[in-house]
Amino acid sequence: MKEKRILLVIGGGIAAYKCLDLVRRLREESASVRAVMTRAATQFITPLSVGALTNEKVLTDLFDLDDEHEIGHIRLSREADLLIVAPATADLLAKMAGGHADDLASTVLMATNKPVLAAPAMNPRMWLNPATQRNVAQLKADGIRFVGPNTGEMAERDEAGPGRLAEVPEIIAAARKVLAEGGTVMPLRRPLTGRHVLVTSGPTHEPIDPVRYLANRSSGKQGHAIARAAAQLGARVTLITGPVALPDPPGAHVVRIATAEEMLRGVQQSLPADVAVFAAAVADWRPAAVPSEKIKKGSAKPALELVENPDILTAIAKEPAQRPALVIGFAAETDDVIAHATAKRKAKGADWIVANDVSPQSGVFGGDDNTVHLVTRSGVEDWPAMSKDAVAERLMLRAAEHLRKTTAAAE
Ligand code: C5P
Repeated sequence: MKEKRILLVIGGGIAAYKCLDLVRRLREESASVRAVMTRAATQFITPLSVGALTNEKVLTDLFDLDDEHEIGHIRLSREADLLIVAPATADLLAKMAGGHADDLASTVLMATNKPVLAAPAMNPRMWLNPATQRNVAQLKADGIRFVGPNTGEMAERDEAGPGRLAEVPEIIAAARKVLAEGGTVMPLRRPLTGRHVLVTSGPTHEPIDPVRYLANRSSGKQGHAIARAAAQLGARVTLITGPVALPDPPGAHVVRIATAEEMLRGVQQSLPADVAVFAAAVADWRPAAVPSEKIKKGSAKPALELVENPDILTAIAKEPAQRPALVIGFAAETDDVIAHATAKRKAKGADWIVANDVSPQSGVFGGDDNTVHLVTRSGVEDWPAMSKDAVAERLMLRAAEHLRKTTAAAE
């Protein structure tokens, strides 16, 4: 954090007092901190105490002409290396998601060209409210990074759940990570403009009878993150997804399916595409025959005969007429990750394979982080551990670069 300039936007919540410690810790790490407080925040802590710790005048009002003369909100928002919003209240997140700019805090957040890290804190019901979840999904799609909220006791009596502000060391660690990744709040470059990116995501459900099915533990987080990143980078995105508990990525055309055969049809009907990313965990087998009525307990013990599902990736990679220019598969392996992924790339006819370790101790299934290796024709790249969002963004930037090069070579 040495010599990094942090603009801290303090929202109006009970957790605002923790910002005093956050400022102190940031300054201990040799960062300089400027603070902007919302009007509500000043009800919880005083600008005087924040200013004493930042050693800078605390800014609260957009229409404070002196401040506008001194610095101006555009410069204020861009002179920083990183903006941290803490506590990011439900109201502040809603304003950010809606693009409001009616006070200094929301205006600097709108005007910035720098990464923004939001640390939400609010009552659990407010956090779980669909409106807040929608806003968070939108903000993630816009490139805003998040830390927390944590789960636990709330300031109000008898209230517990997700909504506690992340602890100060967690906020500092997340800030360090965002600064290291060098992300931008909104990619000003949109290198996938004019491209069609097709993504499969989630598990498939293979019916055993009208009420039962075979499935797997895929959360769909990585596939959805890829669809989100591609849309954010300007692509037209079609997401063919199995049943997941995730919001639709903003801007993507979402086709919901249940079985592998439906997924294959969905993909075929969405061609042509420039890039196809097969991140779905497709069931390898399905029950051979599905009775139209529920199998009753007590009847003869059912024998589950399975037949193989179509391999969607192979079908599309080997599709002679409409093969996408770049076909990317995933290989979730529990052992010998790279060897298996390299063999899989060749066997399936994919251009790239994103290989990851999904052994139970890795925590990848259902988690937010991933450590992957990119297996291409020319070798293997080891990527550092990063969030699934960061993997998605990096993969789609690589795809854009690959398309640019191959298009240029063809011209
Ligand atoms: O399951 P497997 O390790 O073979 O999956 C590797 C890749 O193949 C993944 O990208 C997955 O989405 C894809 N796949 C598929 N259709 C299948 C099985 C796997 O598209 N039936």
